Amino acid sequence: MIEEIRSQTNGCPYHESVQITAPARRPENRPIYQDSNGEWHITDFDVARAVLRGGGIKQAGFQAEVMERGNLTRYPILFLEGADHVAMRKNTAKFFTPKSVKSYDVMIENFVDQMLNEFQASGRADLSDLSMKLATLVAGKIVGLTNSDLDGMIARLNWFFEADTFKPGEKVSLKMINKILRSQVATFRFYFRDVLPAVRARRAEPQDDLITHLLEQEYSSFEILVECLTFGAAGMVTTREFISVAALHFLRNPELRADYLAADHAERHEILHELLRLEPVVGELNRRSTEPLEVDVDGDIVHIPEGSLINLYLYEANANADIFGDPTEVVCPHRELPKTVHSPGMSFGDGPHRCPGAYIAIEETDIFLTRFLRLENLRVDQDPKITRNEVANGYEFREFMVAVD
Ligand code: HEM
Repeated sequence: MIEEIRSQTNGCPYHESVQITAPARRPENRPIYQDSNGEWHITDFDVARAVLRGGGIKQAGFQAEVMERGNLTRYPILFLEGADHVAMRKNTAKFFTPKSVKSYDVMIENFVDQMLNEFQASGRADLSDLSMKLATLVAGKIVGLTNSDLDGMIARLNWFFEADTFKPGEKVSLKMINKILRSQVATFRFYFRDVLPAVRARRAEPQDDLITHLLEQEYSSFEILVECLTFGAAGMVTTREFISVAALHFLRNPELRADYLAADHAERHEILHELLRLEPVVGELNRRSTEPLEVDVDGDIVHIPEGSLINLYLYEANANADIFGDPTEVVCPHRELPKTVHSPGMSFGDGPHRCPGAYIAIEETDIFLTRFLRLENLRVDQDPKITRNEVANGYEFREFMVAVD
């Protein structure tokens, strides 16, 4: 098998690194189909991209359809569409440019050095905690959540993200009331301990971050809270998981690790992109059609009626052999891709909602891993427990114990 893969990948040396994670749900092996509930499922890269770029759709993932507008006059970025969304992306793009991101490098380097010094002193650490700390620090800096203690904020956010999910039309039950209460307590804690102090500080002295921008746009404190939670989910939780899965690939494959550490900045980013293609943290995107759609599938037109739920599967899209080349289920950063395809495939999404944090996510991962993987006598002390995340149809690494002897 390995020889066969090696010959197919022109001797790509990393073939032993096969996919580690799997999504919570798998669709049927067809490019596009409608199931008996009327939901649409898309697994083909080109079809998924055309739908995400084509318009006539709105967000239906990340609990968008159970979120009540309530006191919100504005939805968070992930749920906005049309002109409001374009304006929000344009006004916040400056926080994500490679130039802005570079200005965080020293902060990230110092933080990582300190974290790894502590790790070396104690000899053992949970990598999923280290990666959460880093991801929270960085996304918190972009957002402006810098007026509370980091460990406390992580605990409060963990409470919120672990508070379980709601399904549209779910029946009222004790379990549901418990879910609602837990989620509300977590939200209040985060609001009073993290968001309000940050808002007050920026009202007194504006800074170069998202909260300051939102205050300039006259967002209410509640709307700012919702945007902070959106960035928390979008930027912190995702990057945390990616750092863990990438580290596990490197720790299991010494050749890949050595080549990564010897590579230059651009090559290292390419290797990380390939790992993210193989292990998409967000395994599924969901949209609802707001008008009848016509989708071209290899020359045949498929009609999707208005109001349909459309599920787009990123594991499957990223495994399209016509685009990424066989075998798709192994690490190979030397793939020759069409010019229109990004090397992480669709792992950062596509179309107007494509992840603005794509560069910072890879940069912070790279700063961490280049330091972490250089530690002497580093080893996995306990393989992570890998669970599936229903909301993102992705994976979660927990209790991933690493040690230095
Ligand atoms: C490896 C890490 C990351 C992955 C895999 C990832 C993935 C994604 C994906 C798939 C989307 C599209 C969602 C959709 O279309 O429904 C998205 C959107 C978004 N991401 Fe990321 N992301 C990562 C890191 C980050 C970071 C570090 C930040 C910010 C600090 C961030 C901020 C956002 C925001 C604000 C959106 C919403 C954009 C919009 O709706 O216009 N992400 N991300």
